[in-house]
Amino acid sequence: MSRITIHGRDFVPFLSAEAIDATITELAAELTKDYRDKKPMFIAILNGSFIFAADLFKKLEFEAEICFIKLASYKGTASTGHVITAIGLDVPVQNRHIVVLEDIVDTGKTLNSFLPQLHNQHPASLKLCALLHKPEATAYPLEIAYTGFSIPDKFVVGYGLDYDGYGRNLPSIYQLADN
Ligand code: IMP
Repeated sequence: MSRITIHGRDFVPFLSAEAIDATITELAAELTKDYRDKKPMFIAILNGSFIFAADLFKKLEFEAEICFIKLASYKGTASTGHVITAIGLDVPVQNRHIVVLEDIVDTGKTLNSFLPQLHNQHPASLKLCALLHKPEATAYPLEIAYTGFSIPDKFVVGYGLDYDGYGRNLPSIYQLADN
């Protein structure tokens, strides 16, 4: 791995493909222990989580379903400012064990608004699994049951995460360089 440039910004190697794979293997083992007999539904949030979700799902050693959604936020539709809505959630959530898969939790704003919408549909349980978490940046209350890596509050790219649309195809994760 060496330094790369995307849209004129420099990024330095941060998490190798091997380290990511090892962590996903551990997450899959934890999920296998907790959900073996529960036939859970995984809900992966597009776009960023598509690679993480695929790699994690392949490692699960039990019966499980997966679906993909996008979240849209609207300004000015309510007096509170933001409304987060799921696009493409076409599966019944009621009485199902739900695990939401997210590439990265940054401020936590998106999920903090969206998870109550899922709760309102009365799932049997609802947990969050994030590959990356920036604890210093997280300003909204959010319980992450399964975390891959806790990372500093710096912009990262690769393994599904983008910088202005690019970099998702990188097999490892890079961090914005200081200079
Ligand atoms: P939050 O609502 O602030 O937690 O935002 C979460 C979303 O912001 C993630 O799903 C990503 O799409 C995006 N995001 C946050 N931090 C980064 C980053 O470091 N690199 C790429 N995307 C990021």
